[in-house]
Amino acid sequence: MRLTLAFILTIVFAVGLVAFGFTFYQSTTERNKLIRELEIRTEQVTEDILQGDTFFFEIVDQHNIERFADSINKRYNLLGIAVYYNIDSIISNNATRNFINHSMDYISQSITADTSLGNFFTIAGESIYQYIKPGNRADISNNAVVFYTDAGYIDTIIGKIWFRNFIRWFIQAFLVSLVTLLIIRWGIFSPINKIVDWAKAVRTGSTGQIKPQPYLKFLDPLHKEIEYIAKAMHEAKATAEEEARLRTSAEAIWTPERLKVEMENLLQKKKMIVVSNREPYMHIHEGKEIKCIVPASGMITAMEPILKACSGLWIASGTGDADKETVNKNDKVEVPPEEPKYTLKRLWLTKEEEDHFYYGFSNEGLWPLCHIAHTRPTFRNDDWHYYKKVNEDFAKAVLDETKNEEQPYILIQDFHFALLPELIKKEKPKAKVAIFWHIPWPNPESFGICPWQREILHGMLGADLIGFHTQYHCNHFLETVNNALESRVLWENFSVKMGGRTTLVKSFPISIAFTLKDYDNNSTKIKPSQLLYEHGITSQFMGIGVDRIDYTKGIIEKFLAIERFLEKNPSYIGKFTFVQIGAPSRTLLKSYSDMVSAVENESNRINWRFKSKNWKAILLLKRHHSHEEIAPFYSSANFCMVTSLHDGMNLVAKEFVASRNLNDGSLILSRFAGASQELQGAIIVNPYDIEKTADAIKLALEMTTEEQNKRMTQMRLIIVRHNIYSWAASLLRTMATIN
Ligand code: G6P
Repeated sequence: MRLTLAFILTIVFAVGLVAFGFTFYQSTTERNKLIRELEIRTEQVTEDILQGDTFFFEIVDQHNIERFADSINKRYNLLGIAVYYNIDSIISNNATRNFINHSMDYISQSITADTSLGNFFTIAGESIYQYIKPGNRADISNNAVVFYTDAGYIDTIIGKIWFRNFIRWFIQAFLVSLVTLLIIRWGIFSPINKIVDWAKAVRTGSTGQIKPQPYLKFLDPLHKEIEYIAKAMHEAKATAEEEARLRTSAEAIWTPERLKVEMENLLQKKKMIVVSNREPYMHIHEGKEIKCIVPASGMITAMEPILKACSGLWIASGTGDADKETVNKNDKVEVPPEEPKYTLKRLWLTKEEEDHFYYGFSNEGLWPLCHIAHTRPTFRNDDWHYYKKVNEDFAKAVLDETKNEEQPYILIQDFHFALLPELIKKEKPKAKVAIFWHIPWPNPESFGICPWQREILHGMLGADLIGFHTQYHCNHFLETVNNALESRVLWENFSVKMGGRTTLVKSFPISIAFTLKDYDNNSTKIKPSQLLYEHGITSQFMGIGVDRIDYTKGIIEKFLAIERFLEKNPSYIGKFTFVQIGAPSRTLLKSYSDMVSAVENESNRINWRFKSKNWKAILLLKRHHSHEEIAPFYSSANFCMVTSLHDGMNLVAKEFVASRNLNDGSLILSRFAGASQELQGAIIVNPYDIEKTADAIKLALEMTTEEQNKRMTQMRLIIVRHNIYSWAASLLRTMATIN
């Protein structure tokens, strides 16, 4: 109310000030104009009357002047006339007798200057204008005639101007105040009240789900801020509740908060750097816009939540076509873009480096070498040369970033950087260095075909800790070292001693960000038929597969199993559809582009074979999908199918299980994926065995709800107990204890 009053008073005052200024100007101009007109008119009248002027100066008595003045006054609308001969002799008519006193000074001025004079005076509240004309009678030394005119009408006109403008000001002030009141009421108070109600609902909402905001476009930035605050509040509340629950149940479930505290204790303010080839956020041009995407990579799915929880620096290759436009002068950018939590530093590879280091040695050499998927590895001298060069460049970047640090923690990711541990340790022996190998490690004979196996092993053994997903891969690695290098493998504690250094080789089954809060999440899901309908398919049951299109993922084998399932179970034709989300990957390599064509051809062939109106056996969605786009498929499918021919872990399997908050659905999982060792509740298959995999589909679709619940609950509990936070804590604790 006070605010409104202040607004109104200010407006009234401002409008009044403007109105006063204008009126003052208008009245002054008008008054000057009227005076000027009066002067001119009186002058003309005077000239008129005095045409036979000598007569005036003949008038010497009262009778003559009365008579003469009467006729002149009537004719020219004057108040009166006075004739002056000298100081003792002035004759006026009756009407003007009491004006004379106001004229004497001016008469003498006019006679002395021998010029006509005009001026105003007021008598009894009346405004009078007098005009004095000196005479020209030679026999009388001082003589003049005075004409008196009524000037009162000028004040009347000016008064009217002020009055009219006052009314105008009043109406204006009233209208402007009214409009302002309405604007304040509807434009400010009403939206603010809506926002207050909404913010209250957001604050008090028990589910943590934020109510849709009221439609007030101009308040969008405020909405966003409130949403962030509310989310943070709900998270903090949920975390506190979760921690309280953990304390009482004495469970050891890891959360981002707990990891943060653990890392602060372990790191003691030492810097943590993660190095990988693939960056967690990639900026790309989309039309005129720049879009930020999260590349399809299990390594990113796993590492991102750790960095989000504990900040730090992530060094990776910048490969997005808009990456350079989004970094600062140090090639750094804060991520995630919507709510920055850590720093990403991008390194730029040349085309040759990308060709030989990434496509060549990493993806045509080491990738097929480590995955037993019957694609032959190719090793070229040039590729090796660039592999070494890029590893050196990344080592330099790490060393630059840690030049003021005595003992940073460096966490190296994957097969792209096998040489990095040794390169860093050579320059910074006190740094704690770990390398995590996200892909399988083959048996020594298979690895032995790599012409640079010794250099690779030397490079890796520069690390204090080498991590694999499974003990099986650790054992293969230790056997490879044993076969290829002069070293001591200590099997009792799975370590390697070489040249006075010890490297621990340990398994850390990687996982996803899945906490008790997510476990209890009771968000709703839509029916498979509804989701499929959005894609033009009428079907009742749905299976889901999510893979990069890679020859190691067994996508063709999966399709063959689906075909066989439909052959064996024709009642499912028209009722069951398999959705395969396939992100094209490394497509500049022939083996990968061939794979994309093979996957397309195979799905087309099977769809053609079972062709039916509004139905398809396989829906292939071939493009990059965000986590948000994949989520509805995970939660509504009847089962998920992972058929990797060889896989380090496979986090798709864990993501699917985590998303099943009703503990329903089934997971068909390849025995060649690391995840099969943990997720015993899955239907484990050999993807090369098409017949049995087809039977697994039937089993998944027809499994009783009780059985689904039992298996799913068991798998979900495993993942919540061994989530990515526990993975990171275990890895960092191990690093910290190594001397
Ligand atoms: C695997 C590797 C990751 C890699 C991902 C995607 O999961 O372990 O290091 O990022 O594949 O491959 P890309 O070549 O696209 O990075």
